[in-house]
Amino acid sequence: MSKKERANFGSKLGVILASAGSAIGLGNIWRFPYETGNHGGAAFILIYLACILLLGLPIMISEFLIGRHSRSNTARAYQVLAPGTQWKWVGRIGVGTGFLILSYYSVVAGWTFEYVFEAVTNKFAGKTSDEFIQSFQAFSSNPWKPVLWLVAFLLSTHFIIVKGVEKGIERSSKIMMPTLFILIIILVGCSITLPGADKGIEFLLKPDFSKVDSSVFLGAMGQAFFSMSLGMGCLCTYASYFSKETNLTKTAFSVGLIDTLVAILAGFIIFPAAFAVGINPDAGPSLIFITLPNVFQQAFSGVPVLAYLFSVLFYILLAVAALTSTISMHEVVTAYLHEEFKFTRSRAAQIVTGSCIILGIFCSLSLGPTQDYTLFGMGTFDLFDFVTTKIMLPLGGMLIAIFTGWYLDKKIVWEEVTNDGTLKMPLYKAFIFLLRFIAPIAITLVFIDELGLLGT
Ligand code: TRP
Repeated sequence: MSKKERANFGSKLGVILASAGSAIGLGNIWRFPYETGNHGGAAFILIYLACILLLGLPIMISEFLIGRHSRSNTARAYQVLAPGTQWKWVGRIGVGTGFLILSYYSVVAGWTFEYVFEAVTNKFAGKTSDEFIQSFQAFSSNPWKPVLWLVAFLLSTHFIIVKGVEKGIERSSKIMMPTLFILIIILVGCSITLPGADKGIEFLLKPDFSKVDSSVFLGAMGQAFFSMSLGMGCLCTYASYFSKETNLTKTAFSVGLIDTLVAILAGFIIFPAAFAVGINPDAGPSLIFITLPNVFQQAFSGVPVLAYLFSVLFYILLAVAALTSTISMHEVVTAYLHEEFKFTRSRAAQIVTGSCIILGIFCSLSLGPTQDYTLFGMGTFDLFDFVTTKIMLPLGGMLIAIFTGWYLDKKIVWEEVTNDGTLKMPLYKAFIFLLRFIAPIAITLVFIDELGLLGT
């Protein structure tokens, strides 16, 4: 495809919102709280923040510059920038990773549709926290209901993808993301004023470093990549639609900041509420689906209309946040198939949607009907999550850091981050240092430590 034919995001705000739309999603509101809960709270959050700053931001800027300079899908990008080398595998593996994440992510995204449905039909009214737990378990182990929602969710993603980059992605992000943000702030207010919420706030703010082991580091690092959509060429693909004027560093900082804020605020909704109603913070993937309906019921117990309105609005926005993320993953694979194998865009999208539905069904069933079939002690859903988030994304991130820090001509790097010298980049040296040394060394150490090779 020639440069001129390639679509562009229409405005500056569109660029930020589309990237933030990719970054903000179930990773912040569903995955971040339960990983924090599993790994003991505040100490995990501190390590997570360090990962965002030292690994996430420089790697995000790298993905941006690789994408915008090459103006190609992520696999082609490496062939443009490093012709005849094996770097193309970074892009290709990224496409595969995105495909796997999309499959299991859509399962949870499908759950949000069920919760929209339950909220709209007023199914939450009058339930106790035990009943919320039971009804979630009944739903997630039902053989066909989650599968139907999974299919519905992937078809919605498909529909927006075939409408194209600017209309589909940009427009849906523009209205929904700010609304979600406002609602989150209101919910934090509700949650921290519940009776008994203080224990949850303490859990988030008082680090207990005695609980920190190698799995906490791996968990925090994986979560940082997952939440910022890094390590598989997602933002690299989006950046190929950026214009020449986009300020890459500033965009990365804005996206990183909004993404982190939303995750931390989600923590301030979930944990005070979980402690207030006596739900264990390490309840795992079900955590937000059993605590949140409680927040609505308890915080507005005197005014059922508000409880109703807030839960409907929240689950709709959560579904949309998930949608702007699934779109970004779908786009990576669709752009790859379309541009590399000469499928039409809509045929490419059909292949992606169809195969994700099939894999997604396996993931969905592994949480209920087929939960006894495991590999390495994990069902398909957990296995996909582990392999992608804890291995593929950090590995991809490390290779991207090495590619930009060591391989890529520094003239290109400098031109891209300063827009041909028109922007100032005071932290350029630090940026290169992080890419060259800190990111590869830190990621390697965490991997080695997790494998138990450090002997601790
Ligand atoms: N970041 C998104 C979230 O937090 C999920 C996501 C979108 C993603 N694109 C990605 C994760 C690419 C990893 C890689 O929900």
